[in-house]
Amino acid sequence: MTTLALLDARPYGEDKVNILIENGVIAQLGADVDVSAADATYDCAGKVLLPGLVDMHVHLREPGREDTETIATGSDAAARGGFTAVFTMANTNPVIDQPFLADAVWDKGQAHGTCDVYPVGSITQGLRGEQLTEIGLMSRSHVRMFSDDGKCVNDPQLMRRAIEYAKAYDVLLAQHAEDHRMTEGACAHEGETGARLGLRGWPRVAEESIVARDAIMTRDYGGRLHICHASTEGTVELLRWAKAQGINVTAEVTPHHLLMTDEKLETYDGNFRVNPPLREVRDTHALREALFDGTVDVVATDHAPHGSEDKCVEFEHAKPGMLGLETSLAVISQVFVEPGLADWRFVAKVMSERPAQILKLADQGRPIAVGEPANLALVNPSAAWTARGTEMASKASNTPYEGMDFAARVELTLLRGTVTHSSIESN
Ligand code: DOR
Ligand code: ZN
Repeated sequence: MTTLALLDARPYGEDKVNILIENGVIAQLGADVDVSAADATYDCAGKVLLPGLVDMHVHLREPGREDTETIATGSDAAARGGFTAVFTMANTNPVIDQPFLADAVWDKGQAHGTCDVYPVGSITQGLRGEQLTEIGLMSRSHVRMFSDDGKCVNDPQLMRRAIEYAKAYDVLLAQHAEDHRMTEGACAHEGETGARLGLRGWPRVAEESIVARDAIMTRDYGGRLHICHASTEGTVELLRWAKAQGINVTAEVTPHHLLMTDEKLETYDGNFRVNPPLREVRDTHALREALFDGTVDVVATDHAPHGSEDKCVEFEHAKPGMLGLETSLAVISQVFVEPGLADWRFVAKVMSERPAQILKLADQGRPIAVGEPANLALVNPSAAWTARGTEMASKASNTPYEGMDFAARVELTLLRGTVTHSSIESN
């Protein structure tokens, strides 16, 4: 039996403890725990220990675009970002719309072993928005969440049926809220900046009208609805209203929508094109407040790798999407922890505990305590590092944070007691 020890770690940034891990489980934890007999010991030097992070929304591009990311490279990027579980979206080629495809995603993730990769099943066959998939059958193949992400389920009658099936099988429906009739040809937020730059605009209402519609459907037909990448002040108001009515709706926000606005588009750099688009400062402020007060439940990266042939082109021809797995913790620390707006308990809640609860994962987002699975991330809150796309574990390098300086960095990630990422040495 191999044992692993963490010396002087601060769970949630609080008091220093030593932790002994045996058989993938936290066996002992306390200020005086003797770790001298462990096979390997990591000196954590007072750094912050969090439960392993859980990302409800990534795109690992396998099958179909293995030139931009694979389940293996995406898992490694996740581990470097402190993640122990991710949910990879169904908009691959082929689309994940049948049980055997979902099984293949899960099996590849387990075989690689650096992160639990849960397949998201599509709501409609081939993402075509015409016929529902076999939600019941897929729910038996590690699929806990269904989404046509990348596209919206626009047809209201189809969405109603999806909600009814999802309720029957107790799975989560995640909506990419975008009325496609209102966003044809759009590549930027509809506002002053986009107008000045000559970029066709995607109005807030294209998102908010779907959020309102689906919240009301969930009120009337039940089930659990999740809103992907909330991006506007109005979406926040609708979520607040829906939650006050007791409607079973949750929502995520991306690090990029919390940190950046459409002013970034001034340089026409395709790395800033994303769906939904970067909005205005009043939206980022509303989203920050909403995450803080629980109106928005979780942070999800929407990690979306693209090759340079699809990014280093005219802005309106660039594919939407940004890398996120290796920078998300640093961005959340910069927005909330470093200015003193929130503590590490908050980060653990929105990046690990809440997503694990929403997805009903029994072994993730757990307290850092004896008897719990050793899914953990060690964060150096003042590492001082610079984001470089080419240095990332992802195959693609389309980070919107190129050259930006950050403070927080994940230095060690454990999945069931196995080291999946480490930039510090053990002894
Ligand atoms: O920016 C985005 N990229 N938003 C999405 O919804 C899909 C994603 C992708 O697949 O590239
Ligand atoms: Zn999406």
